[in-house]
Amino acid sequence: MRIAIYAAVAENGVIGREGGLPWRLSSDMKRFKAGTMGNPIVMGRKTWESFPKRPLPGRLNIVISRDQTYQAEGAEVVTSLKDALTLATAKGRCMAGAEEICIVGGGEIYRQAMEKADCLKLTHVFATIDGDTVFPKVDPVAWLEISSEDVPAGEKDSHATRYAVYERRGKPANDNGVPAAR
Ligand SMILES: NC(=O)c1ccc[n+]([C@@H]2O[C@H](COP(=O)([O-])OP(=O)(O)OC[C@H]3O[C@@H](n4cnc5c(N)ncnc54)[C@H](OP(=O)(O)O)[C@@H]3O)[C@@H](O)[C@H]2O)c1
Repeated sequence: MRIAIYAAVAENGVIGREGGLPWRLSSDMKRFKAGTMGNPIVMGRKTWESFPKRPLPGRLNIVISRDQTYQAEGAEVVTSLKDALTLATAKGRCMAGAEEICIVGGGEIYRQAMEKADCLKLTHVFATIDGDTVFPKVDPVAWLEISSEDVPAGEKDSHATRYAVYERRGKPANDNGVPAAR
């Protein structure tokens, strides 16, 4: 299955603050829900704990923690990104309508998943935001923007955004750590 990274990123790269999101973007949440619905979603333990209601319904929730005893009710817990992707692939194949493995954060997981992803589905937030968690730099040599859409701030949005989809120009890294081709 293809691997897609979903993230909302401020102009200065910020994605999070004090364990939560530093904005209110209702339009983006709806887009995120529609895009990830029916798919396996993979996240770090801190992102899992940031969800007010968990698991996210209608999706196979997979949580990564180094703590082998960690329990996440309503989710599968694994101890590495590699195991998360193996599980998501195996279970995703049996999920009717599953189209891709969605990597949904946070910063630590994005950093590790970038080299494995086939595409990035990024919401660029038109603001510079104070925060403590950032998204990795998107290297234009490795990533080609294939579509984008400006989204004005709606009534329940703190900022205007631009939704952009990027495709990897070469092949992603394989499991043996051979780097992503360009
Ligand atoms: N803007 C967005 O689109 C977006 C999306 C998602 C999250 N966020 C924000 O990002 C922030 C959270 O990001 P974060 O970087 O602090 O944390 P994170 O990536 O969500 O989770 C980090 C945790 O994942 C586990 N982990 C990471 N790498 C691992 C590995 N290789 N093997 C096993 N376990 C591993 C560890 O859990 P243990 O400590 O349990 O071992 C680690 O503490 C929050 O502010 C959240 O709101 C923003």
